[in-house]
Amino acid sequence: MIFSSGIKSSLVQPHFVVAGSGVDDAIETMPGINRQSVDVLMETIAGDMDNGISSHMLFGVVDSHEKDPMASKASDSEMPLQRAVLQLKEKYGNEIVLMTDVCLCTATDHGHCGVIHNQEIDNDLTIPELVRISLSHAEAGADYIAASDMMDGRVKAIRKALESEGFTSTGILSYSVKYASSFYGPFRDAASSSPNHGDRKSHQMDIRSGYKEAVFEAMSDQKEGADVIMIKPAITYLDVVRQVADSVSKPVAVYNVSGEYSMVMASSKDISERKAMVQEIFYSFNRAGADIIVSYHAREAMSQKWFD
Ligand code: PBG
Repeated sequence: MIFSSGIKSSLVQPHFVVAGSGVDDAIETMPGINRQSVDVLMETIAGDMDNGISSHMLFGVVDSHEKDPMASKASDSEMPLQRAVLQLKEKYGNEIVLMTDVCLCTATDHGHCGVIHNQEIDNDLTIPELVRISLSHAEAGADYIAASDMMDGRVKAIRKALESEGFTSTGILSYSVKYASSFYGPFRDAASSSPNHGDRKSHQMDIRSGYKEAVFEAMSDQKEGADVIMIKPAITYLDVVRQVADSVSKPVAVYNVSGEYSMVMASSKDISERKAMVQEIFYSFNRAGADIIVSYHAREAMSQKWFD
């Protein structure tokens, strides 16, 4: 993708892919964003492509009866996510940029982002599982592995595996700076990925932590081989975005997360007010130094031509 300073070309639209056909499930807290089976998703993305969105982030939603402690299903080539990537790449080739979320939480029965050992998430037991999932995405044709799990050392391990399996042009977008935020609620409903006990505070960053930790995480992911450094959430961490953007040489992405989207959708009284809010938000991302903006607002912003 082109990392330019223009807002339009920096936008990435997220999607939730589910099993079945003809499925187009509304997500109550995220008006305008649906969970879709591959056939419906193809139509949605065709519309987005027509409106000028060429970059897409895909999340695979796994049915509860297919979940297990190791997230085995997440690397299955027959799963909706992998099938969607394959079909989209067949249809659009290099015109589309696909980023695929790699984490265990959507496919584990306990809902945690890693393998549980002695009642704790075990970093080192999780890495091989993340590698297995990443390789299945690369094989389907993903352009960027979007590693959202926050385990230590996973960028290096994924990079090494991609290289040794011959996926030399597959990039890694790392969620390098990801806070244990309260703004992920609507997403967890959408992706059915809430932990069934406890929280994500062991591996996501403390909301009170300062710049140094954020810059350290970003620099170490860059050193491990990340091609894009992501900060998440966006609106409440723009100070961190600026610090990180000034420190790394790789492009910086922000994830304008589900709770941030829901706030705008709930508080704007009509489309013109929403337009003004989204413009204000996206310009602030741009000003803080974001080269890439992942946002559920991308679709409306582009179809309504809110940016020139
Ligand atoms: C998976 C993941 C999450 C989000 C993106 N990838 C949820 C989480 O960390 O609990 C959140 C995105 C959003 O809120 O829009 N780990």
